[in-house]
Amino acid sequence: MIEPLSHEVLIQLAEQYGTPLYVYHAEKIKEQYNRLKTAFSKTDAVFFYACKALTNVNILRYIKNAGANVDCSSINEVKLALHAGFPPSRILYTSNGIAFDEIEEAQGLGVIINIDSLSNLEKFGKKFGHAYPVGIRLRPNILAGGNIKISTGHDKSKFGIPVDQITRILELVRKYDMFIRDLHIHTGSEIQDVDVFIQGIDILFRITHHFPDLEFIDLGGGFKVVSKPGDKETDIALLAEKVGAAFAKHPYKNGKPLQIWFEPGKFMVSEAGFFLTRVNVMKETTGADFVSVDSGFNHLIRPMFYDAYHHIENISNPGGPVKNYSVVGNICETDTFAWDRPLNEVREGDYLVFRNAGAYGFEMSSNFNSRLKPAEVMVIDGQSKLIRKRDVFQDLLRNQLEVI
Ligand code: LLP
Repeated sequence: MIEPLSHEVLIQLAEQYGTPLYVYHAEKIKEQYNRLKTAFSKTDAVFFYACKALTNVNILRYIKNAGANVDCSSINEVKLALHAGFPPSRILYTSNGIAFDEIEEAQGLGVIINIDSLSNLEKFGKKFGHAYPVGIRLRPNILAGGNIKISTGHDKSKFGIPVDQITRILELVRKYDMFIRDLHIHTGSEIQDVDVFIQGIDILFRITHHFPDLEFIDLGGGFKVVSKPGDKETDIALLAEKVGAAFAKHPYKNGKPLQIWFEPGKFMVSEAGFFLTRVNVMKETTGADFVSVDSGFNHLIRPMFYDAYHHIENISNPGGPVKNYSVVGNICETDTFAWDRPLNEVREGDYLVFRNAGAYGFEMSSNFNSRLKPAEVMVIDGQSKLIRKRDVFQDLLRNQLEVI
């Protein structure tokens, strides 16, 4: 296993590039991809990195060179993937709730497409008939994932065409003689229980016989990673064994099982990421001892938005006595990263690092409070490289038209 970047390296990077700063450890990303490949080596499985987790073009290129494909959720992610050098055959576009012209644009770029509404399926059928293969994103009506905000397969979720609408799907497929190449589900993020995937497969296998052109089944992403002490990640060896066995029991064309696709996002990049901040202000009160860092939910929103846990370390005082602190940001709004968190004694000017910051960290950042987005650095072969400049004040005015 690749060791996390050391405190010394992180402090040196904080000093060199300033804070707040996102740092990504490239080799950790490759290790995660290789772990998946190894676990699934006996099955015909292909991995598409769900790039919504982190789209810096250097990360995309690194992942392409490592051998993974890419899953995109918007046309701009598709364009970034093309820009990074992925050929269209390695780009999957799984959209949700978008206008048909975006799907047409994706078709024009030649990428693989999953459609998630009857409305767009009909438009696609009318326009392309059998000429362009397409996949169907289904909602399996399974409740899974770390919490309700990151659950996408349940019966109140907006994602996918409900599997109970199969008759209507088949009507369209037959009417337009559509070439349905895959069925897709993505039930949620942080799914620890591998049986959730098996449940999804069972649901899909009940309907695969309706689709004679199927070549693969896409089971989405959602593998859980360890972020809190005591967490268990998805057992990918067990997952591979169970999924492999389920597919082997369900031979398809020429007696061969369908190919298995996955779209891991967090699993690929979460642990590779470190978010470095510096302590601006200490405030002792009767209710709590506050540590205010030079950041906020404008840079890392997961704790506030999903109650997500990010492990925090005081890398400037690792031997200091442990005390409880509320770690907060500098945004004028609800902005707590952690309540009552044990940390080595914190002093103004100390560097605090947030772990598991590679996925949905920078990617979900904003300029709220007219603050500047942080810089991003990649550590590769022991060298650090700046891969995104910190915003400057002019960025705040960049698209504004001063009409009065
Ligand atoms: N495929 C599809 C169609 C998805 O919608 C997603 C994530 C993935 C794959 C990748 O899921 P992952 O392997 O990363 O769990 N921002 C939230 C997570 C939302 C995930 C949305 N869809 C968070 O920070 O926890």
